[in-house]
Amino acid sequence: MTDTPSSVPPTRRIASVQARRVWDSRGRPTVEVEVATAAGARGRAIAPAGASTGSGEAVDLRDGGVAFGGHDVRRAIAGIDASIAPALVGRDVSAQAELDAMLVALDGTHDRSRLGGNALVATSMALAHAAAASAGRPLWAWLAGDAPAMLPLPEIQIFGGGAHAGGRLDLQDFMVVAVGADDWRTALDWTAEVYRAAGRLLADAGRLQGVADEGGFWPAFDDNEQALTMLTRAIEAAGLRPGEDVAISLDIAASNFGRGGRYRMARADGRPRELESGELAELLLGWLRRYPVVSIEDPLAEDDLAGLAAFTAAAGPRVQVVLDDAVVTSASRIRAHAAAGAGNTALIKPNQAGTLTESLAALEASRALGWDAIVSARSGETEDTTIVHLAVGWGVRQLKVGSFARSERMAKWNEGLRIGESLSEGFALPPRSAFPWG
Ligand code: PGA
Ligand code: ZN
Repeated sequence: MTDTPSSVPPTRRIASVQARRVWDSRGRPTVEVEVATAAGARGRAIAPAGASTGSGEAVDLRDGGVAFGGHDVRRAIAGIDASIAPALVGRDVSAQAELDAMLVALDGTHDRSRLGGNALVATSMALAHAAAASAGRPLWAWLAGDAPAMLPLPEIQIFGGGAHAGGRLDLQDFMVVAVGADDWRTALDWTAEVYRAAGRLLADAGRLQGVADEGGFWPAFDDNEQALTMLTRAIEAAGLRPGEDVAISLDIAASNFGRGGRYRMARADGRPRELESGELAELLLGWLRRYPVVSIEDPLAEDDLAGLAAFTAAAGPRVQVVLDDAVVTSASRIRAHAAAGAGNTALIKPNQAGTLTESLAALEASRALGWDAIVSARSGETEDTTIVHLAVGWGVRQLKVGSFARSERMAKWNEGLRIGESLSEGFALPPRSAFPWG
């Protein structure tokens, strides 16, 4: 049990929990929480927000109505003030698991809909920041304890589509992974050159329409495969070798255009088409053969377990098959999908679970099964850099943040540049042999 309030020393005793309404990268209200200890240590965190959400994830509490498109968070803020703050004050800030369990019990719903996943995740992350500050350590070091810590391999978006770009492309994310880079700084340098080259190629082709929600270019392509061709050309134009230095990673986000094993694509091959699960898998497997794609996320919809299992088997062990919508940072869902042979890597988004403790449980479940994991941002983000600390502190080997533009994204890449200065491994990335494509 948590110590009774009177016996908790002031360095660790929670003195205040303050909720604040702030704004995210889509200009929508979101929740910030600031925790202070009696000795004056402080921790602060902001809830991110998804747009292409899995049906099983923790639900954000939004006000509805007409103001801000129904996205306001005044009820979530009020819940923190009325229920969460009084329950936390006096407790030991370093007892993360117990405090998270309290948050879950206070909410009392299976989907965190009473107090809101947004209220819970901002509180849970702020508690972790305050605990680290009370110990005088950066969050990554507080989380890592004695375990060795290393920067993760970044997955960075170049073109955005799907729900983040008005459905212009069926696929959501066309990303690059600097598979040949030995260190974080080189991975960012190479990505910056690819991003620049891709923008130039798009502009020259008259197909540049601005940027999508995560900062990737919003291209006016006629079909999805044009994006793959142009991304491969952009890697070459940056003076890099596709597949050797820089490879492609895709988030199909197939739940957005398919259910019940049927997929309605606007631009499957330049025209609208409805595909069966097996036909979509064949289309994707063809891309895996023809382009330097090493990782593919949500290739089939969250309700298509058989399709996901068949695709994972057909893609083979050298392809990373990442599940997001189907497993929603849930240990039990990860176990169920692994048992069915569906996927081999879990996306870890703390706000899908609600608390850091549940996110860590999902990560530990994936590790126990021999799966790899990727810590991920959401399409709605802020200057909050907690996820970088989670990836480093929890020893997760990959990090997905969105593109290489817009400061809510760059804040994360830049935080890695600061953290690397303190790591015993410096800026080194996990060796290529650590990954399926190695
Ligand atoms: P979301 O997109 O944050 O809008 O859910 C990210 C993803 O699907 O990985
Ligand atoms: Zn996804």
